[in-house]
Amino acid sequence: MTRARLHATSPEFSRLAFGTWRLLDSPSRATPEGLLELLKVCLDCGITTIDTAEIYGGYRVEQLVGAALALDTGVKQRIELITKAGIYVPNSFHPERRFAHYNASAARLVKSAEKSLRWLGVEVLDCLLVHRPDWLASIDETAAGLNQLLQAGKIRSAGVSNYSPSQFSALSSRMDQPLVTNQVEFNLFHIDPIGDGVFDQCQERQVRPMAWSPLAGGRLFAEGDVAAARLREACAAMADRYGGASADQLGLAWILAHPAQPVPVLGTTRPGRVQAAAAALDLPLSREDWYGLWEAAQGRRIP
Ligand SMILES: NC(=O)c1ccc[n+]([C@@H]2O[C@H](COP(=O)([O-])OP(=O)(O)OC[C@H]3O[C@@H](n4cnc5c(N)ncnc54)[C@H](OP(=O)(O)O)[C@@H]3O)[C@@H](O)[C@H]2O)c1
Repeated sequence: MTRARLHATSPEFSRLAFGTWRLLDSPSRATPEGLLELLKVCLDCGITTIDTAEIYGGYRVEQLVGAALALDTGVKQRIELITKAGIYVPNSFHPERRFAHYNASAARLVKSAEKSLRWLGVEVLDCLLVHRPDWLASIDETAAGLNQLLQAGKIRSAGVSNYSPSQFSALSSRMDQPLVTNQVEFNLFHIDPIGDGVFDQCQERQVRPMAWSPLAGGRLFAEGDVAAARLREACAAMADRYGGASADQLGLAWILAHPAQPVPVLGTTRPGRVQAAAAALDLPLSREDWYGLWEAAQGRRIP
């Protein structure tokens, strides 16, 4: 699989990342052994980048990832880790929290990154993302935390998630090193980054975005969803031109074809679907088919 830097200053990552948000929903992947098995499938397909977050699984997924990697040092050495910090919700581990809140202050980012390092069982994170903009943190505060972690060698690169272009620019202005990505929702049913300036900014700054929920969280396959049914029909009608490609493969190929060169973050917990996703890298969609899928998903012609 092609390797990619998110920015010239970032480490190399795989062209597709494996997302860990839903791991605890799948009993077969919610154990270190079950997860390790899936990670080996990812590696066999060339997917070496794991995307996780402090909050996933009610703050339990990072521990699970760390436990899976601890079972096999060979696997651990081949993996790059991206994690996120900054969202805090009350739950059984944290009954002291009254309300869900963001916190991207310097002290909190450093504390969270250090916890992630411990739970993932590594000495350095390949990338740390601020999970969402914290409306109460100044750009100086947030940048100070990321700069401190970079300087201390605890993270190799820093980025953001769910930032608007102006929020990205503002934070960038205080960073010692460029932010390397903006991880945003992007799929055939959520096309905002094309029009809201996020992907324009990424191209301008030569930063690769990451695309979360690339299959709209499974909506592409929902029964009784009219738009999804229309999209599946459109996929089936063009499948022959792409060697019989499935709807999930065409949905990923649609993301990969955008000139901002997003890195899709896969959400499946099934080995066969990981393998199918990896094959989507070899499906260069034609311009007309790309617009055809847009039309089917949106239910209207381009303006
Ligand atoms: N930065 C952020 O704020 C943010 C937010 C959300 C997510 N993320 C990241 O993005 C990753 C991916 O998000 P996502 O899980 O929403 O991704 P997704 O790939 O859009 O959706 C995954 C869901 O779709 C189902 N699915 C996949 N292929 C299918 C098929 N062929 N038929 C039927 N169902 C299918 C999966 O079920 P199976 O497991 O059964 O295949 C799973 O429930 C997350 O793990 C996380 O790392 C980041």
